[in-house]
Amino acid sequence: MRHEKRLLEILLAITNISNDRKIEFRIKLQLILLAIVNCMQAKSGSIMLLKGRKVLEVAASTNSKLIGLRQELDETSPSSWVVRNKASLYVDRATGHESYRKKLAHHEKTAFFVAPIVSDDKVIGVLNVTDKIGGDVFAKWEQEILIRIAGQVISALETQRLAKSLKKSRRALEKKNVQLKKLEKLRTDLFNMLIHDLKGPISEVVANLDILSYTVVDESRQYVESAQIGCDTLNRMISNLLDIARLEEHKLELLYERIDPKDLVKEALGRLFRVGKTSELCFVEKAPPPTTTDVLWGDRGILLRVLQNLLTNAIQYSPPGETIEVGFEYLKSSRIKFFVKDNGPGVPAEYHQAIFDKYVQLDKKADGRTYTTGMGLTFCKMAVKAHRGTIGVTTEAPKGSRFWFVLPVEKKQG
Ligand SMILES: Nc1ncnc2c1ncn2[C@@H]1O[C@H](COP(=O)(O)OP(=O)(O)OP(=O)(O)O)[C@@H](O)[C@H]1O
Ligand SMILES: [Mg+2]
Repeated sequence: MRHEKRLLEILLAITNISNDRKIEFRIKLQLILLAIVNCMQAKSGSIMLLKGRKVLEVAASTNSKLIGLRQELDETSPSSWVVRNKASLYVDRATGHESYRKKLAHHEKTAFFVAPIVSDDKVIGVLNVTDKIGGDVFAKWEQEILIRIAGQVISALETQRLAKSLKKSRRALEKKNVQLKKLEKLRTDLFNMLIHDLKGPISEVVANLDILSYTVVDESRQYVESAQIGCDTLNRMISNLLDIARLEEHKLELLYERIDPKDLVKEALGRLFRVGKTSELCFVEKAPPPTTTDVLWGDRGILLRVLQNLLTNAIQYSPPGETIEVGFEYLKSSRIKFFVKDNGPGVPAEYHQAIFDKYVQLDKKADGRTYTTGMGLTFCKMAVKAHRGTIGVTTEAPKGSRFWFVLPVEKKQG
């Protein structure tokens, strides 16, 4: 009865230590260890916690010099055995135990006890009690209970500590994330500003090239035209980049107006007269003029650039002289479908989705002089989506591809 009362007292002491919020984790471990060592009438003891999978570190010890020491898990030490087997080890008269005599020669032990500290079914450390002073105060089963419960308390404390440190590092990570987002925004703003500022000088070059093109002698015309084509490409790329940034930030407001699809296609073709010189551009009206009263509403400037991008691709990726068809047809379900069909190499089926992603380019030329960014189709996809439409590509037989986009149309009022 006396034993049981003492056992209860010590368990209560351990619980009180562990619940005391004012005591720091390491001190708690130390106090719990001292309580156990005293209670078991031992001289020394330690609590070791696993660091990673292979190293035990002394977290608390009756010999303060040992705290922080590390020990690799090996085949022979009692602690390693306990970790590996997830079971307690109780050795009476250790000095008589051949395998431990050498290892523990510096102890004056007559017995030692090592128990695993288990959390979530995993061993996270060990509790050592060595060097018994006198005869056992408790029966073996009582010692076992004591050590087990102490192990549980320590394990709970360690879990709590880990949770706290996890919370701390999560908070630090969140802070870092906010900083990174700010930096990223600054970078994007600067980038967009820079791109935007390029527009001015390019417009000036375009205007001057136009003037030059009227006066230039025939032998030099090709140089001016080549410069004009370069400027057109640059303009298209800059506008794509700027609009993608605005669409991503939902800052691009579409200026809706009523659009005649035929006019739209014709204007897109007209704007390509310089780039399109090498190909046979051909406007195809697929469906007969609609008897429907459907009206297309959209941002004319943006939709023009969608068509221009698709047409530029068709020209760029087809051999010279091939016919390129462009047109539209009304679909039954209040929608209109625009298409650009070429006789080029086509786009392999596995890339039908990916080519609409940023920077995706197939077969980039080895000399790197393609003057493209891989953003054209990304712009098209975002622009069409902003109009509540869809875009895609199909492979044409026997060769070539057909890029299409479908937009909703509205019934004419009245
Ligand atoms: N009509 C087409 N025929 C074959 N491949 C195409 C066609 N259109 C696009 N592609 C492929 O899809 C890729 C992505 O096209 P996208 O227009 O997005 O970028 P880009 O033309 O390379 O560059 P950018 O348009 O920004 O100047 C192209 O690099 C090309 O490999
Ligand atoms: Mg392109």
